[in-house]
Amino acid sequence: MALNLDSIGKPIGPVTKEYTWKDVVLYALGVGAGFQELEYCYEKDLKVLPSFSIASILNIDFLAILAETTNINLAGILHGEQELIFHNPIPTEGTLTTTGRVTNIYDKGDKGALVVAEFDTVHSNGKKLYTSIVTIFSRLDGGFGGPDAPAKEVIFPDREPDHVIEGAPTQDQPLIYRLTGDVFQLHVDPEFAKMAGFEKPIMHGLCTHGYACRALIQSLIPGKPGQMRRMTCRFSKTLYPGEAVKTLVWETGEGQAVWKTVHSETGVEIITNGQCEYGDVIEETVRFDDRVAVVTGAGAGLGRVYALELARRGARVVVNDLGGARDGSGKGTASPAETVVKEIQDLGGEAVANFDNVATPEGGENIIKTALDAFGSVDIVINNAGILRDKSFTKMEPENWASVLAVHLNGAYNVTKPAFRVMKEKGYGRIIMTTSAAGLYGNFGQTNYSAAKMALVGLMNSLKIEGAKYDIKVNTVAPLAASRLTEDIMPEDLFKKMKPEFVSPMTLFLCSEECPVSGNIYNVGMGFFNRAAMVTGGGTVVGDGKTAPLPEELMAKLADITTMDQGKEFQHLNDQVGEIMAAFSPKV
Ligand code: NAI
Repeated sequence: MALNLDSIGKPIGPVTKEYTWKDVVLYALGVGAGFQELEYCYEKDLKVLPSFSIASILNIDFLAILAETTNINLAGILHGEQELIFHNPIPTEGTLTTTGRVTNIYDKGDKGALVVAEFDTVHSNGKKLYTSIVTIFSRLDGGFGGPDAPAKEVIFPDREPDHVIEGAPTQDQPLIYRLTGDVFQLHVDPEFAKMAGFEKPIMHGLCTHGYACRALIQSLIPGKPGQMRRMTCRFSKTLYPGEAVKTLVWETGEGQAVWKTVHSETGVEIITNGQCEYGDVIEETVRFDDRVAVVTGAGAGLGRVYALELARRGARVVVNDLGGARDGSGKGTASPAETVVKEIQDLGGEAVANFDNVATPEGGENIIKTALDAFGSVDIVINNAGILRDKSFTKMEPENWASVLAVHLNGAYNVTKPAFRVMKEKGYGRIIMTTSAAGLYGNFGQTNYSAAKMALVGLMNSLKIEGAKYDIKVNTVAPLAASRLTEDIMPEDLFKKMKPEFVSPMTLFLCSEECPVSGNIYNVGMGFFNRAAMVTGGGTVVGDGKTAPLPEELMAKLADITTMDQGKEFQHLNDQVGEIMAAFSPKV
């Protein structure tokens, strides 16, 4: 049966697994730790090797679902590449919940296919621990006419490695390692191994990976496994138990290294293309415990990620989504909002779904009523719901104009107004508007959308003033992210890099108690952040202020009028009017 190409993007999981200190120690013993690294093997002051993340039983369960979802031919699969991104140190016990999706399937022709999946694991303490990107090489599934994978080779410095760490797996190493979850016969059964073309059972690739992880910690961050930030590699050749390996490490920059693990005698590369990043851990302190958040249009794209992240950090969330088509047409469906609520609940969070249309005042009232009925309050509103109806201006019919303004601009008014009443009363609130570069700077074919998106900036400007004395902060994000709104606008390789997860940190920060600003606009996308602002130039007086100047006089002074030299931002209309008045005041 062929690979299921429709599995790309489909959610996988959640898979949940409890673990104790004994699982942590068993893994450490499985990858060669012992008395010389007692901190991984003794429950007193126990530390967890970061590579435990990928080798836990949880991972095996997850890979089984991945295989089923993609229809991969199990007879020909190998673990091709592995990337681990560590967000927080792994506690010594708890429950891990993993969700993910297939992100790509590549065609290597006769050689086979690559199936890439990405998954996130969250601990029962609410912290996201790690993201794992796994590439499965499937020898028997190639030749379906799909795109080839982009080449990614790691460049090793042309010098001796800075560190060489020896590892000596014993003849019996796989017998211990398999108890951490991977009980495939190839690593234990001599007959099976012979049938598969090997002299005897072979080492688990991930066991050698664990040796490499220990070597990286020993050489780069001794005694501080929690400082591992990222570890990536490609599995290259198999290894027999009892054969020694060396991990070669080159430091390439501040907190960065490249590495490979080779056979000690033959020099053959067992694991290659290794990269490692390390450094201090940033503690997750931004929390939303006891906060109630309303996210509109949270059934997909950016809104979904905001809702998931808010819930993970403790908020109770109203997931609003009408569930219509990209242009807002159709009757709508409950399923996007319900799916996101389920995702949140599966991860241990609290959320309720709401299917109202933000474009009507009743819809807005009902969205906030949902928050009040379910959770008794509302602290955060993210106005995110959106549609597109692009047309060049002469073809911009009234219904296209009106429907876009109705969802974006009226939608923000309809939802924010009832929320603002509650926020004023309780003396706390965080409101987000979602603008767009199309509004801030302009874009062909989007006059309706640009007008609506810029109008939201005006709404923010005045609302920030009305909210100031009640600790209600109103800010605006201009995102750049992959979603159905951008899927046919952006080139494919760029689209893949524009993850909504890169936008949500700013949106969440602006929703937090810690947020110090109100009335700001931030452009956010792919890890780039800057602020956009309405800046007013220094200007000049033309004439004497008694007789109105002629257009010709303005023409002569146009450079002085137009210059942005001495440009300023005003926080209030009065400041700008005051500036005009001041221009006519006698200078002392
Ligand atoms: P998306 O299409 O994935 O998500 C928007 C969600 O809003 C959809 O799930 C849709 O069902 C929902 N929705 C639409 N009309 C609604 C209504 N009347 N009531 C309730 N829900 C409704 O799009 P994406 O990209 O996540 O967009 C989120 C926001 O970000 C939008 O306001 C969009 O204009 C804005 N934006 C996005 C950019 C991007 O690069 N993705 C760029 C600039 C702005």
